[in-house]
Amino acid sequence: MITTQTIRVNSLKGINKLAVLLAGNLSKLKTGKAAVLALSGDLGTGKTAFVRYFLRALGVKQRITSPTFVITKSYKLKTKNYKTAYHIDCYRIKNPRELFELGLKEILENLRNIVLIEWPEKVEKILPSQIIWLNFRHGTKERERIIQIIKIPKSLSDSIKRYFRSN
Ligand SMILES: Nc1ncnc2c1ncn2[C@@H]1O[C@H](COP(=O)(O)OP(=O)(O)OP(=O)(O)O)[C@@H](O)[C@H]1O
Ligand SMILES: [Mg+2]
Repeated sequence: MITTQTIRVNSLKGINKLAVLLAGNLSKLKTGKAAVLALSGDLGTGKTAFVRYFLRALGVKQRITSPTFVITKSYKLKTKNYKTAYHIDCYRIKNPRELFELGLKEILENLRNIVLIEWPEKVEKILPSQIIWLNFRHGTKERERIIQIIKIPKSLSDSIKRYFRSN
């Protein structure tokens, strides 16, 4: 079963916690061929911060910076099932087809890939339909963030609920 859930964090630590949990449940994130996470939300809400923690949790050691200007960055992974993570920032994309020129079609086809996409609404038309979607919002306090997770498998949503309650 697929569901939607909203969590609230008060610091970057909370974003790290969520990223670690999702990175640890990659098999449940797999909705198409590659595992795809769409990360939407206003500027500065923590999309890149989330990706950084997520990739760290998967063992990436190198510096992880925002791909705003280069659009896409890739990281070699040493996990059992996944070989490459792609961090894509669509902020500057005008036409979704630009991503095809960057090879997105092939990237999504490969079940050894993880694809994390910022500003996914700009290219929504060409994304697979069943991907998990995280929408980040500012809260009322400076470090507060509200994250709505859309189309998450119920089992994973239950783990998140437990994990956030017990920590
Ligand atoms: N709870 C929090 N979660 C996420 N970021 C936080 C939090 N509290 C403070 N911050 C700060 O907010 C900023 C988030 O920046 P980040 O680059 O991750 O945003 P973004 O959503 O990727 O923005 P952009 O749309 O420009 O790519 C960082 O400077 C981070 O330190
Ligand atoms: Mg960003």
